[in-house]
Amino acid sequence: MLNLEQMRKDFPILNRKVHGKQLVYFDNGATSQKPRQVINELVDYYENYNSNIHRSVHLLGEEATEKYEIARSKIASFIGTSVPESIVFVRGTTEGINLVASSWGSMNISAGDEILLTPMEHHSNLVPWQLLAERTGAQLKFFNLTEDGQLDLSNMDSLISPNTKLVALTIMSNVLGTINPVKKIIDAAHSVGSIVVLDGAQSVPHMPTDVVDLDCDFLAFSGHKMLGPTGIGVLYGKKEILDEMNPYMFGGEMVRQVSLEKSTWNDLPYKFEAGTPNIADVIGLGAAVDYLLKIGLKNIHDHEISLTSYALTKLEEFSDRMKVFGPRDTNLRGGNISFHCRDIHPHDLGTFLDQEGIAIRAGHHCAMPLMHCLEVPATGRASFYLYNTHDEIDFFITILGKALNYFEK
Ligand code: ALA
Repeated sequence: MLNLEQMRKDFPILNRKVHGKQLVYFDNGATSQKPRQVINELVDYYENYNSNIHRSVHLLGEEATEKYEIARSKIASFIGTSVPESIVFVRGTTEGINLVASSWGSMNISAGDEILLTPMEHHSNLVPWQLLAERTGAQLKFFNLTEDGQLDLSNMDSLISPNTKLVALTIMSNVLGTINPVKKIIDAAHSVGSIVVLDGAQSVPHMPTDVVDLDCDFLAFSGHKMLGPTGIGVLYGKKEILDEMNPYMFGGEMVRQVSLEKSTWNDLPYKFEAGTPNIADVIGLGAAVDYLLKIGLKNIHDHEISLTSYALTKLEEFSDRMKVFGPRDTNLRGGNISFHCRDIHPHDLGTFLDQEGIAIRAGHHCAMPLMHCLEVPATGRASFYLYNTHDEIDFFITILGKALNYFEK
């Protein structure tokens, strides 16, 4: 059980008023709020030991290097690996996936190969593969979706063939909340020699993740969605695969030897971290991981499932006027709830809610092909995190009811 009242005090922004109303922050799928512990860690870095890493002989540089590498080890163990070198720091999920598409993709994909994706991918797990297919002559294939927004695995045996070289999918949909059966898909992909790239942007912050148990080849996720700073993310890759890959950015730090004519590469993970890295935000992400571990990922997931189940039940009140997407069964989903009201544009609804202090996201959620499948231009989305409460959901439902009446007048 979470001590919600106590925990909410750690998040200064939750005291904020918006248009004179108490903030209800339901846009956690876009970015999460930050606890004081993370904010203080950033201030401590800049006030006390700001310096460059891996290259300084002075004390400040040694302190910063140590904190940076401790954060790497913490993050490795947070996702279940004891191999810190398999953690590459990037700007976010988008950069992590682009790194794989650019480096692994260019070295391993050729004409006739197949790349298997799903229609529920965020553009960041779709566009890089479109470009790779265009460059190489590979073919993109897609799972279908069921009526309630799950992956249809009925034709998986024909979709995954000896031509499949890469499967890329999200663990949890940023729109539907669907949690995909990734382990089953990974096993099937591996049986034909394909690798699997997971987008963990919406799942890693909200539930326990074990890359060894999953046996995924790559996993990308973003710090800012898991209480950490913006501009820092993680690409996990199996060490033996990362070892074989070429760097995708070149410059300082990622080299071992440089002559005027030629260069050789540093060891993992540094060969993928060219230039001065985002030192402060890596250390801040380490503090976010400490915070999440203190609360417990299982507790966080259970709390969010309780909120989601409550919200889905309450939303049934509007079922004649509003469609809610994604599975109803909370064993199959997390706390991203998308909805669409006939004749009300989600932006208008979002603006109405904002006037009451409620922050939701409205739009296509960087998932235009999914909007096409759902036959809507956009949706409204409420997305929960550890600090949200059942009372906030009650307030949201009351205001949503008022909004529906207002727009349907
Ligand atoms: N990908 C983020 C979202 O779904 C920004 O809102």
